[in-house]
Amino acid sequence: MATRLIVNGIDKAFDDFQALSNVSFTIEPGQFVTLLGPSGCGKTTLLRVIAGFLEPDQGEIFFGDQVMNEVPPNKRNTAMCFQSYALFPHKTVYENINFGLRMRKIKVEEQEKRVREVMEMVDLVGLEHRKPYELSGGQQQRVALARAIIVRPEILLFDEPLSNLDAKLREKVRVDIRNIQRSLGITTVYVTHDQAEALAISDVVIAMNKGKIVQKSDPKTIYNHPSTKFVADFIGSANIISGTCLEAAGSTAVVNTSLGILQVQNTGLIQGDTIFLCIRPEDIVPDVSENVLPDQNVLTGEVLNAVYMGSSLDLFIRMDTQHIVRASVAKDTWVSEGSQIRFIVHPDKICIMKG
Ligand SMILES: Nc1ncnc2c1ncn2[C@@H]1O[C@H](COP(=O)(O)OP(=O)(O)OP(=O)(O)O)[C@@H](O)[C@H]1O
Ligand SMILES: [Mg+2]
Repeated sequence: MATRLIVNGIDKAFDDFQALSNVSFTIEPGQFVTLLGPSGCGKTTLLRVIAGFLEPDQGEIFFGDQVMNEVPPNKRNTAMCFQSYALFPHKTVYENINFGLRMRKIKVEEQEKRVREVMEMVDLVGLEHRKPYELSGGQQQRVALARAIIVRPEILLFDEPLSNLDAKLREKVRVDIRNIQRSLGITTVYVTHDQAEALAISDVVIAMNKGKIVQKSDPKTIYNHPSTKFVADFIGSANIISGTCLEAAGSTAVVNTSLGILQVQNTGLIQGDTIFLCIRPEDIVPDVSENVLPDQNVLTGEVLNAVYMGSSLDLFIRMDTQHIVRASVAKDTWVSEGSQIRFIVHPDKICIMKG
């Protein structure tokens, strides 16, 4: 049975540096959760607190309804996969994977059966007699994964496991990890600072900054409705602009922004409110038609640069206010640098945020 993980009010300081401040969240049994945030924001520290390698100053860790604070790491039934795979260099693939079972004095026949099972699962059959140095990076990573899951942990912890792999392989192995995690249903905490990876792999993304949780949402919500400027900026690319509410009535509000006057969805705004707006580059639609609907925000600017990205064309547009907007448009859009462009931003594609 999968385990619920509860992190409750965790504080951790190193000398006078507060690495974690009042961190609380719950991960439902079998969920795959990523901790996403910039370098130094406390991701590894939090994983180490969960695994029991670090004692928190405040707060509790629960596995199910059991408080784990006093339980030593080797009794917590967690398994951890690191960026540096930490394989035993002189042991074979088989011995590396089998290590946890030997330590637990599992019967030899059972050991053999389980190693065979996980080797199939991570697609390593045939490589059992190789040493780690005779494997590719992706294969080594899969040995590390096999070694972690073979002990059937309650909680699986990953600390940037893919950062040593090239981009293509990273995409493949992350899908493998996700599929295996799903089939085993192990509650998983996965640390990354790669936002695309977090969106691709998770049930839930927890954005962290400076030792605090900023937002916890499913990937779609965190991308489409970032709650703060930090999250909007960190996840994907974003046009973040400031604005003042001129008028709010019913379901729409009118906001004076550094791009011009925009209609937005009224999320409880009051006249005079100062806010931030997030517009994703792909939500800016170039307008070539003559017919513009009254509820569309139509803006005009000058194309400073048109950058061909392969799958899209990225435009950097200078508005009359001198503000530069980034738009990501269809790759076959015809625009020339220096020309004027008219574009539309639908009110429901504008996200309103706190500062
Ligand atoms: N043992 C320690 N002693 C003193 N400071 C520490 C210790 N471990 C971590 N820190 C500090 O705590 C902060 C959080 O570190 P942590 O390793 O958790 O960051 P991270 O989010 O994992 O970053 P990265 O993405 O670079 O791995 C950092 O400022 C780090 O310097
Ligand atoms: Mg780290």
